[in-house]
Amino acid sequence: MTRDLTTFPISQNARFKLLSSGFFIKEDLNGFTPNELATETGLTVEEALDVLEIVFPASSNSESDILSCSALDILQDEKSRSSITTFCKSFDSILNGGIPPMKITELCGCPGAGKTQMCLQLCVSVQIPKSLGGIDGEAFFIDTEGSFVAQRLVQIANGCINECKANSQDSDVKDFTIDKVLKGIYYYHCKSYTEVIAQVNLLHQFLEEHKKVALIVIDSIAFHFRYGFDGSYSLRARLLNGIVQSLVKVANDHKVAVVLTNQMTTKIHEDGSSNLIPALGESWGHACAIRCILSWDEEKRQAHLFKSPSMAEGKANYTITKDGWQQDSDQLLSRIIVIDEFWARVYEPELKRQSTEWEHAGSPKRQKVHQNPSPVKLMVIKAYDVRGFIVCRFVPHGRTVTAQYYRDFLVQRGVRDKCPDLVDSAIILHDNVRPHKAEREHKATPRLGMGRIGAPTILSRHFSL
Ligand SMILES: Nc1ncnc2c1ncn2[C@@H]1O[C@H](COP(=O)(O)OP(=O)(O)OP(=O)(O)O)[C@@H](O)[C@H]1O
Ligand SMILES: [Mg+2]
Repeated sequence: MTRDLTTFPISQNARFKLLSSGFFIKEDLNGFTPNELATETGLTVEEALDVLEIVFPASSNSESDILSCSALDILQDEKSRSSITTFCKSFDSILNGGIPPMKITELCGCPGAGKTQMCLQLCVSVQIPKSLGGIDGEAFFIDTEGSFVAQRLVQIANGCINECKANSQDSDVKDFTIDKVLKGIYYYHCKSYTEVIAQVNLLHQFLEEHKKVALIVIDSIAFHFRYGFDGSYSLRARLLNGIVQSLVKVANDHKVAVVLTNQMTTKIHEDGSSNLIPALGESWGHACAIRCILSWDEEKRQAHLFKSPSMAEGKANYTITKDGWQQDSDQLLSRIIVIDEFWARVYEPELKRQSTEWEHAGSPKRQKVHQNPSPVKLMVIKAYDVRGFIVCRFVPHGRTVTAQYYRDFLVQRGVRDKCPDLVDSAIILHDNVRPHKAEREHKATPRLGMGRIGAPTILSRHFSL
């Protein structure tokens, strides 16, 4: 397909010189060196080089790739790429599976919130073998704060490796060792913002030479940009904007995930009140596709998915242990809804007082108080979670209880009404459903974002989790 040179982002001066020298379409420039083009058109050699780089970009095969890329291609491409697990199920769940490839994810938080821990965790997680649903990739860690501690990385890697080995005996899991994990993490310490810019600009070349790298981390992007720009915030915004544009290009060209950490700052409002917001200003807030805010008080750690182009806002609790980031076990417990059924009969009890009456000494002895069960028994379904009873329903006489019935019961009557916070995250613990038969339930639960944990075979006849 031919393409008119006027459709390229070439400067007006260069375009004028090209057109007046007889260069109208892309193909007219085929085979020209910068020197030859400069001689032919009157452009300087640098200008000619710029033109050739715009028309024949090094990292892209041709513009026809771009033009032929449909939404379906993008969807299939997205589906074929796995996200990187955070090792915290609830955080993965609000992120739709983990840290996505080809996107920039920003983790903001106060000191000690767990940003660096998450970056280390991701550098390990990205290396999980494919047989366990991982990516089997490598990571590049750009450290600006000097908070990378290899000993801590070894602890986190140990936790991840043990978890993988507990779940699989595959040979590639056997090769998943501490040494392999450490070798799969490239590290660079940037001591100034110019080094950060330089390192970002070198990423393309680095990724060309290290094809397995699937994750770029910058911890933190804020460190060298927060201070020293007094009075020149527009320069800072321009530099940061340049960094983000380069990172977006790198993420797309090399299909890598990019994770940046950011610090928090205090915003003081006109009325004197204040709150904590991510640093680097408001315009920076538009830079990253995904923004998560990690907060921490003495009681709980919480990750808040604040902004995402594809997922609703959500919150997940997490803990940090010796083995790294983990799901807060309290939160797992609070997501479980237990369903229980029992049979009930209607009784018509005769009260003791009703059976009491004055008698003569010779009157026949009366029978003791007794209860008359109704001939019809009803099924009662109860649902409760860790906080207590949620809902109870008497199943109408003659009604067959099916998976559909349970679904309606929970979704329409129970969970949605009383625990809206669980609608997207409930795990149903049901004592007698036959999981392989409950097809409708199988289809409905993922759509509703509800979890399904595989039960051990020995339990599966009795429990569906
Ligand atoms: N071995 C460990 N076991 C348990 N928790 C740990 C361990 N190492 C670190 N932590 C926890 O991680 C927290 C530090 O997290 P991290 O270094 O990621 O903070 P950060 O958000 O990067 O902070 P900063 O903005 O200062 O860089 C500590 O508060 C500590 O509770
Ligand atoms: Mg840190």
